[in-house]
Amino acid sequence: MTLRQTLLLLLVFHASLATTAEFGEPFPPPAPASPEPKNCPAKCGEIDIPYPFGVGAGCSLSGRFVLTCNEMTSPPTLLTGTVKVASITLETAQMVVNTYLTYSCDVPTSNTTINHTSTDMALNVVTPFLLSPSENVFTAVGCSSTARIKGRGASPYLTGCITTCARVKDTGDDGTPCSGHGCCQASLTPNLTQVSVEWENRGGRSPVAENLCQYAFVATKGWYSFRKNDLIGNMTFANRLGSGPVVPVVLDWAVRDGTCPPTLEGNGKEIVPNGAACVSSESYCVNASHGAPGYFCNCSKGYTGNPYKKNGCTTHPGYRGGQFDLG
Ligand SMILES: *[C@@H]1O[C@H](CO)[C@@H](O)[C@H](O)[C@H]1NC(C)=O
Ligand SMILES: *[C@@H]1O[C@H](CO)[C@@H](O)[C@H](O)[C@H]1NC(C)=O
Ligand SMILES: *[C@@H]1O[C@H](CO)[C@@H](O)[C@H](O)[C@H]1NC(C)=O
Ligand SMILES: *[C@@H]1O[C@H](CO)[C@@H](O)[C@H](O)[C@H]1NC(C)=O
Ligand SMILES: *[C@@H]1O[C@H](CO)[C@@H](O)[C@H](O)[C@H]1NC(C)=O
Ligand SMILES: *[C@@H]1O[C@H](CO)[C@@H](O)[C@H](O)[C@H]1NC(C)=O
Repeated sequence: MTLRQTLLLLLVFHASLATTAEFGEPFPPPAPASPEPKNCPAKCGEIDIPYPFGVGAGCSLSGRFVLTCNEMTSPPTLLTGTVKVASITLETAQMVVNTYLTYSCDVPTSNTTINHTSTDMALNVVTPFLLSPSENVFTAVGCSSTARIKGRGASPYLTGCITTCARVKDTGDDGTPCSGHGCCQASLTPNLTQVSVEWENRGGRSPVAENLCQYAFVATKGWYSFRKNDLIGNMTFANRLGSGPVVPVVLDWAVRDGTCPPTLEGNGKEIVPNGAACVSSESYCVNASHGAPGYFCNCSKGYTGNPYKKNGCTTHPGYRGGQFDLG
């Protein structure tokens, strides 16, 4: 959508608002404490955009929750910065994004030359996002890989894993855990905002003849299941996945400025005082996951909906993001 079209839409929305006001409403809504988003796109293609996220001016809680919807692609692509968004979950304050596979291939093109190709997975996210350390895992696939993952967060971070195999047929059956024979995994530390992959120089060791490509990625736990065939040939695994951002990664998000007030004691209720963004009644404040700064909001037990919106948490079964699921 061009800027001009956006402005035009905003004008149309304002016009419809004015009309509603003119003819009055059955019960006048109380003046909102903060401007509530109105008439913002609820979806980008098939992907829901729940507040505090939003596309367009005034549609998100703050500039940090602004997403963009690229309607030039089919289907349209929802983006945070340059990273493709697959889904947003309010209950857990998480977002699934799609990123790229990193590879390093040595493909002999003749008896004397080796064609080397590689790509870099530069996964950078900014506030309010952090890579979820509990939902993601770093994985390397290959027969001669020392893949290192370099992270930037509160302090410098470097980890990685080693995978070897003398021959592809020595590796475990398809589906065996990645424990260093054909593939390996390393868990992530909390507080990471950026990761990139480094390959250790083979140091003169000859590569395993049938295993031309080494792959590495950070992905949702359980997404990768080992396949012997991924080790064989030129770019077999990459071609199986298809091009573009295809690797799912879970991000934790939170309102980073502020924390929840101290828990109320006594009275036997689970409800605690709201963080500033938890404006709905029957909502409560949850401190950000994994010791990260900030908080997010959730609807109280028995209520569903959007705790970031006035009266957003309701008891209606099947109420979701402004629409009722019938049946
Ligand atoms: C590569 O080397 C093998 C044996 O070392 C030889 O049989 C083959 O003809 C060579 N191929 C080329 C393209 O030179
Ligand atoms: C590398 O591979 C590409 C595509 O197969 C080919 O066009 C190019 O000539 C190769 N380079 C070398 C140095 O062999
Ligand atoms: C390896 O596969 C990639 C992608 O399929 C291709 O672009 C490249 O030319 C291939 N390299 C060789 C040496 O065949
Ligand atoms: C949230 O964190 C703040 C600051 O660390 C703390 O005072 C408060 O008790 C915590 N609230 C909850 C609900 O965990
Ligand atoms: C995460 O980073 C923040 C500062 O950015 C720091 O205050 C906090 O202690 C860190 N948490 C962990 C678990 O490292
Ligand atoms: C949010 O509320 C839902 C429904 O009550 C619950 O299943 C979920 O665990 C809660 N999330 C957090 C992070 O407390």
